[in-house]
Amino acid sequence: MTTQIITIDGPVASGKGTIANLVAQELGWRYLDSGALYRLVALSAKENSVAVEDEIQLAKLAAELPVEFLEGEIYLYYQLVTNKIRAEEIGLIASQIAMHPKVRTALLERQKEFAKEANLVADGRDMGSVVFPEAQLKVYLTASAEERAKRRVKQLGLAIDSPEYQKIYQDILARDERDKNRTVAPLKPAQGAKILDSSTLSIEETVKKIIKWYQELVN
Ligand code: DC
Repeated sequence: MTTQIITIDGPVASGKGTIANLVAQELGWRYLDSGALYRLVALSAKENSVAVEDEIQLAKLAAELPVEFLEGEIYLYYQLVTNKIRAEEIGLIASQIAMHPKVRTALLERQKEFAKEANLVADGRDMGSVVFPEAQLKVYLTASAEERAKRRVKQLGLAIDSPEYQKIYQDILARDERDKNRTVAPLKPAQGAKILDSSTLSIEETVKKIIKWYQELVN
């Protein structure tokens, strides 16, 4: 049986995680949060004092990482780390280690495994371009940097005019630059991807649009 795959790629804080999760729920498919894998390597590197430049050791960690995704929770070495890996600091380390080709190669097979036995919605940066180029529907989900910073601030329970806004906005710009300009698997729309700018769309509208696109493609 050929499994069906929808990929949702996009920049940091574009809402891909929320959207991909909801699309998967709606269709009754499996969900892969590929950014979580990079964040898990980042957390493990931090806890084991492996430097972000040490490509060989990082790739080793990535290949051997005992990870489990269970009912919406994420475990590393049998410890619950779902919230821990969401810290901004871990995100920054993740974006640095994601530049190493050997780390990406080590995670490639692990990601492909997710689509072996079940239909899959996968979100990340290179799901449509590198990991699942065969996907039936590829979406590039984006929103303006200002809108993404606002969403992140709200998510953290802060006011839009709080001093943290500027820092979060600058971090988003810095991570965009790094993700777009790295030599391996840079962030860009995959060939054949449909571009979806969610700056003025609600979560429900965005989910509906993606499901409609998929249904139009397969019917
Ligand atoms: O989506 P996220 O913020 O959880 O991802 C964390 C970092 O991991 C991001 O800065 C870039 C990297 N990443 C990647 O390079 N490729 C992916 N498919 C997913 C994430």
